[in-house]
Amino acid sequence: MKYAVTAATGNFGKLAVSYLAKLVDQKEIVIVARDQQKAEKLFPGFEIRVGNYDEEASITAALEGINRVLFISSQPGGAVERKVQHEHVVSALKANHVDFVAYTSFAQAQTSKSELAQDHKATEEMIAKADIAHSFLRNNWYLENETGFFQSGQQAHKAIYWANNCAGWALEREYSEAAARVLTSENPNEIYEFAGPATTYSALGEGLNQALTVKSEISQVTKDEYIADLEDKGLDHPTAALYASFQDPIDNGSLNENTTDLASVLGRPLTDLSEGIKEILK
Ligand SMILES: NC(=O)c1ccc[n+]([C@@H]2O[C@H](COP(=O)([O-])OP(=O)(O)OC[C@H]3O[C@@H](n4cnc5c(N)ncnc54)[C@H](OP(=O)(O)O)[C@@H]3O)[C@@H](O)[C@H]2O)c1
Repeated sequence: MKYAVTAATGNFGKLAVSYLAKLVDQKEIVIVARDQQKAEKLFPGFEIRVGNYDEEASITAALEGINRVLFISSQPGGAVERKVQHEHVVSALKANHVDFVAYTSFAQAQTSKSELAQDHKATEEMIAKADIAHSFLRNNWYLENETGFFQSGQQAHKAIYWANNCAGWALEREYSEAAARVLTSENPNEIYEFAGPATTYSALGEGLNQALTVKSEISQVTKDEYIADLEDKGLDHPTAALYASFQDPIDNGSLNENTTDLASVLGRPLTDLSEGIKEILK
């Protein structure tokens, strides 16, 4: 059996490969990355192939002879549109007749109103249309996305947020371990909604205070006040607005879901919020 992990040099990929290597022989793992040198440094002793999502021929060659693929979604904002990059990957999966793909998607991708979900919705549809056996790993929010909020609490004893509603935060290592487990599973589900318990930002702040030795003042502000605060800290307006927009999917309810899929695939309870925050701040 040959397993490939694409975009393996990112945070998710690094973690997923480390978990996969505990589940199968290292010889069965193929690292696929756009940057050969970076991959060689990160994964000594592994088989490494160059696979760039920007070029269909590159990713097609990288997946030759592979049975099961962990297809890690790309970041938006590159030279080639993310949806087009993902079209290249799906064509490569099809051309190589891979047996199975696990794709890192977005919470409730098919019905989500979030702009961020749209490429994931389209990619899920492409995979289904290509008739490739699959699992959609619909990952909710990484707890690491809130590192700035946690560090403000730790360093300035003051942390602000603007979003209402809930997200299902869990550690990126928990999502990536689950991805490795699904990739090697004999009977994977077609869809997993991977998330921690639905949690408000205010409860996240309580979790932060449990994690800190010196308590922090936590307050909700308006989105405009949040942007102004980032500008006061030296960011230009477009960057401040972009950072503030990371809370849009929380505020508009796109990340509010009740599911136990993540704990169930991991076979254990998820890391407690304040323990997860301590781990990030270490
Ligand atoms: N649910 C969430 O909260 C959340 C948060 C952040 C991201 N995400 C999604 O989850 C994915 C994995 O997260 P992450 O933390 O691993 O992100 P990351 O650390 O930024 O890694 C992104 C990976 O994509 C690779 N990549 C970018 N363009 C590529 C291309 N043209 N061809 C091949 N590979 C390319 C990067 O390669 P290099 O190493 O060469 O740069 C890197 O390995 C992200 O890409 C994004 O779609 C989800």
